[in-house]
Amino acid sequence: MSIELRALPSEDYPAWIRAKFSGFGYGIPESQLLNTPVELDRSLAAYDSGRIVGTINVHTFRMRVPGGWLPMAGVAGVTVQPTHRRRGLMTRMMNRQLRDMHDRGEPATGLYASESIIYGRFGYGIATFHESWSIDRLRTQMIPGDSGAGGVEYVSRSEALELLPEVREQACYGRAGAIHRRTARWELALGDPKDRDRRNRTRLIRAVYREGSSVEGYALYRIRPRDHTVVVEELCGINARSRRALWQFCFGVDLMTRIRAGHRPLQDPLLWMLADPRHLKRTPCDSLWLRLVDAPAALSARRYASSGRLILELEDASCPWNRGRFELEGGPDGADCRPTTRQPDLELTANELGAVYLGGVSFLTLVQASRIRARDPKKIAEADAMFRVETPPWCSEHF
Ligand SMILES: CC(C)(COP(=O)(O)OP(=O)(O)OC[C@H]1O[C@@H](n2cnc3c(N)ncnc32)[C@H](O)[C@@H]1OP(=O)(O)O)[C@@H](O)C(=O)NCCC(=O)NCCS
Repeated sequence: MSIELRALPSEDYPAWIRAKFSGFGYGIPESQLLNTPVELDRSLAAYDSGRIVGTINVHTFRMRVPGGWLPMAGVAGVTVQPTHRRRGLMTRMMNRQLRDMHDRGEPATGLYASESIIYGRFGYGIATFHESWSIDRLRTQMIPGDSGAGGVEYVSRSEALELLPEVREQACYGRAGAIHRRTARWELALGDPKDRDRRNRTRLIRAVYREGSSVEGYALYRIRPRDHTVVVEELCGINARSRRALWQFCFGVDLMTRIRAGHRPLQDPLLWMLADPRHLKRTPCDSLWLRLVDAPAALSARRYASSGRLILELEDASCPWNRGRFELEGGPDGADCRPTTRQPDLELTANELGAVYLGGVSFLTLVQASRIRARDPKKIAEADAMFRVETPPWCSEHF
């Protein structure tokens, strides 16, 4: 049987999206079929005798790195039909996308993994973590504090489309790992699936915190009457008072016993605003898996917390152009990374490089896990001082 990989023609999009959702094992209502934004020229379909049996797509993103933005290819929709699994089809699709990113000059790629066993083999490493929260609202409340002189108000979908991007930019885009959200994805985030009743949830509620004429924060949430739960989909603010006021607002929804929030960043201050913090249960999860497609370009593109020079020996099975020794010289004002023949300080693979790149895990931890080999142990502290970031990286966008 020969399976052909092709860029997705627009007329095959409905079949492709059905194949994608059935590959994940769940159906999708017909009303939703055309609502998922994909870039057709970056989407591949695997055909067997004209039927789509494999899917993958890439989003063209920009990701915040210390000191700037980096083009980042967000891989999504990776599925192979159960009838065609474990014959190397995903491997073919992944390798084809990696080559395409390389040809386009895209220095990095990231994804969310349905199962964490899958993507290490393609050189991805865990670069960010997030937490899911469950708050017992009957057993803890917020301690008093400054909630500002403004107020929380509801906005319509079109008002939200106008107001929220600016807030998000100020509130989230300073943190390493943040992904710039374009309009098509805003439409998705503010959308209200027609099947919501089947999931026993109300419509999406859009609330903003406003002081005078300035909107300083927003919350997107739903009510789940079945178990008396407020489900916070997004909550962010440009300052402490707007975040506090919006959380206070969520705590104030009558008749609810629980607040759930997914995809929260590490070190979020809410825990420290609660009278009884133990009733905020936190479940951490690997978030963005990152892979440097062009390691020297990506390493040159970020800024470093302190000045240093490292010789890295990189092993890379699926992007062989990355293999070799590189001298990275970087600091707060810029960086340069180029091939060298000098003896390496640190030996690592693409997985570890992806994991440390945003500062989400230290070199020391990966040395202790026997994942990075330090030929010169003094260089571990130097590497950590260089890659350090003030707040843990957080990928603001789920894709
Ligand atoms: C995950 C999925 C795309 C894999 O497709 P596939 O064509 O069977 O993958 P391949 O045949 O290329 O597998 C490559 C390797 O990964 C391993 N692998 C793939 N999926 C795996 C899984 N879910 N668990 C464990 N190992 C897995 C294979 O065993 C194989 O290992 P090997 O090289 O040692 O033989 C497919 O199982 C699927 O569609 N799953 C449901 C949707 C999903 O979870 N997609 C991932 C979205 S992030």
